[in-house]
Amino acid sequence: MTLPGTPDPAGFPADFLWGAATAAYQIEGAADEDGRGRSIWDTYSHTPGRVRDGDTGDVAADHYHRWRDDVALMAELGLRSYRFSVAWPRIQPGGRGPVNQKGLDFYRGLVDELNDRGIEPWITLYHWDLPQELEDAGGWPVRDTAERFADYADVVAEALGDRVRYWTTLNEPWCSSFLGYASGAHAPGRHEHDAAVAAVHHLLLGHGLGVQALRARGAEQVGITLNLAPMTPVDDHPAVADAVRRADGWQNRIFLDPLLRGSYPDDVRADLAGVTDFSFEQDGDAATIAAPLDLLGVNYYQTQVVSTSPMPGTNLAALGPTETPLTAMGWGVDPEGLGDLLRRLQRDYGDLPLYVTENGSAYEDVVTADGAVHDAERTAFLAAHLASAQQAIADGVPLKGYFVWSLMDNFEWAHGYSKRFGVVHVDYATQQRRVKDSGRWYADFLRAHRDRSGY
Ligand code: FCB
Repeated sequence: MTLPGTPDPAGFPADFLWGAATAAYQIEGAADEDGRGRSIWDTYSHTPGRVRDGDTGDVAADHYHRWRDDVALMAELGLRSYRFSVAWPRIQPGGRGPVNQKGLDFYRGLVDELNDRGIEPWITLYHWDLPQELEDAGGWPVRDTAERFADYADVVAEALGDRVRYWTTLNEPWCSSFLGYASGAHAPGRHEHDAAVAAVHHLLLGHGLGVQALRARGAEQVGITLNLAPMTPVDDHPAVADAVRRADGWQNRIFLDPLLRGSYPDDVRADLAGVTDFSFEQDGDAATIAAPLDLLGVNYYQTQVVSTSPMPGTNLAALGPTETPLTAMGWGVDPEGLGDLLRRLQRDYGDLPLYVTENGSAYEDVVTADGAVHDAERTAFLAAHLASAQQAIADGVPLKGYFVWSLMDNFEWAHGYSKRFGVVHVDYATQQRRVKDSGRWYADFLRAHRDRSGY
């Protein structure tokens, strides 16, 4: 593959926040322990035909029992920060009301261990595991879910606010809304386009109310993580240019604009006119959603190639095949896209501090006879993306941190355990962890950065 150079540790600011990310349902396991309730992902993964090979997160990487060793591994890798999510059904098993102290205790122990080792905890409050009872009451298409999310944010902030500086409300609300309620590829697996757009609004509202709750508890750094993608036209036909506009609206601006400019874009409203009348909006929502943030988390995996064929039932653009090399997910490798995206965010939305909260790749990893995983493609992927991020910084983009997805192999949603994204390999039969070559490369790079910047 063609790669845009090699990153230089000296090209990143001294206080750059280097980390790795995970999510609760993907790694914790212990699905029935210590009072945890059920989430939409328990239901979905236990429904035959939904997840590849019938895999579930019941055991996952058993992090709920191995977290101390996992934090030791993070220290060994030299991570400065660890981004993880709190499982709402561990904190409020039914999504509302009584708090499960054992759930809070788990995260308190984790956070204390991280702090003791000098690793900055970074909490994502919602990484897709909605308590099933809230889905039974309508889920994200229903306004009440946003209010319940704010209550939950308050509970977690009260318990952990004195020991956690970095907070993000939601991870990738695009996936929660469109994959969860329109395509059905994610939990809860519904196929209702109007409900999906209502879910967008209530996720954003939940975010805004969550920000208020976090601020009221004195949270220092507050933001949200979006999955954003540059849109590239498949050819230079004028109809394709309009499809690029629509795809950008539907994937990126439908979230960025209400959060950072105070309203949904007019063209996105028009594109969605046949799907919803936006009657879920109430007075005051726009201001709540646009509450000032301290940071924006950016999850970047690929550039989307756009063609014109509409998605069924919508006026949206289709995403076509890409000609770049592909990862095991079939996602096109486009390191330059990361720098382009970061520059675009600064140009269109201003100088809000940016963090790459996820970037990484799945490949067909093999444990070789020497007991190692020689994942040269992943190392090349990471190096190229860091070089692209470095160029963005040199261009003046306020990029403050980078988190590799993922710390370790885990339950990759509808793909089950068939896709490995970790820089640490997990043998699911024994739960043995092995640092892959890419993990060693990342650790060496972080060490070189530390040595040069002297933090
Ligand atoms: C992102 C998710 C994360 C993981 C990666 C591969 O969309 O946030 O949980 O599945 O993709």
